[in-house]
Amino acid sequence: MTTETLDIKITKTTHSRLAETDFSNLVFGHTFADHMFVADYADGEWKNFQIVPYGEIGLSPAISSLHYGQAFFEGLKAYKHEDGTVSVFRPDKNAARFNKSAQRLCAPELPVDIFIQSIAALVDVDRDWIPTADNHSLYIRPFMFATDPYLGVVPSKTYKFIVLTCPVGPYFSKTLRVKVETEYTRAAEGGFGFAKAAGNYAGAMLPTRHAAEQGFDQMIWTDAKEHLYAEELGAANVMFVIDGKLITPSTRDTVLDGVTRDTVLAIARDWGMPVEERRVAISDIVEAAQNGTLTDAFGAGTAATIAPIGSISYQDQEYTLSDNREFSTKLFKHLNDIRYGRATDTHGWNYVV
Ligand code: PLP
Ligand code: COI
Repeated sequence: MTTETLDIKITKTTHSRLAETDFSNLVFGHTFADHMFVADYADGEWKNFQIVPYGEIGLSPAISSLHYGQAFFEGLKAYKHEDGTVSVFRPDKNAARFNKSAQRLCAPELPVDIFIQSIAALVDVDRDWIPTADNHSLYIRPFMFATDPYLGVVPSKTYKFIVLTCPVGPYFSKTLRVKVETEYTRAAEGGFGFAKAAGNYAGAMLPTRHAAEQGFDQMIWTDAKEHLYAEELGAANVMFVIDGKLITPSTRDTVLDGVTRDTVLAIARDWGMPVEERRVAISDIVEAAQNGTLTDAFGAGTAATIAPIGSISYQDQEYTLSDNREFSTKLFKHLNDIRYGRATDTHGWNYVV
């Protein structure tokens, strides 16, 4: 990693959309800030670092990412504190995960300093787009895709790295009714479930639609072999509080190593709460729900934040959780306090722009 300042050419928009944007009615991913960051990879190096007005980009219909899915992304957020300070939450973790995705998808890595500086520069240019209301933030979407206009099934030699940003409010508006998914599989051992590969999300769309048709908001993905162990909750990690212990599936090939997950585990440990990262049998969850020791369950993710689970359905039985979720309520408040600069950031998670 180098610490040189990135040479970014900045072209600002002459028609800001800020004044006409309704910040009280934000739908996730619909509203984009005025600018985007764009860089190119060719001849073995990253170049052409630019911040330009958000807009369409011209591409060949033959680019390999459209055909073979060499595309992956990240998701992180910027927050505005009461005193006007702007911080991005743990961008170093996203940079590292981005490169894990790059390795798995045979794409070039992006130096961590380019990842972080591009985001910091973009957020700085569009800092007026960061909402200030409670639970609101600027969602940041860095992504890379293959651009060789060539139909051979080989890794592309050229790529684009782009960063978009969207002002967002809460992703979920209510506690979630979830089902344990035992038919479809999100990821298998040896596959690329641990990567934020675009294809993982395409494959989840049909199962998600079926779950919605059955009246569920989300599904708990289970292992590909036996469908007996919990893995994730939709596009978030899943966590349970049983008998006062915080329990979550350990990360492996099939589970995304979530930044929120890591953050929650660190906070729980700071609070002296026992934490278990292990295989989590669905039968253990059901038993805990039946005997009353399952006191909390939630999804943890950047978009999802801390998303409480209201009920879990498994084999035609619905297990409803009590509304008294002491841990996730306290956790969500503390996490927000850190991100909005109201609590001391003892771990150094806020990257100030
Ligand atoms: N799991 C999946 C499949 C996701 O898409 C996400 C969202 O990024 C997460 C987990 C949570 O990860 P993070 O907390 O880094 O956003
Ligand atoms: C995120 O939380 O950043 C995600 O990637 C979830 C998303 C696909 C909306």
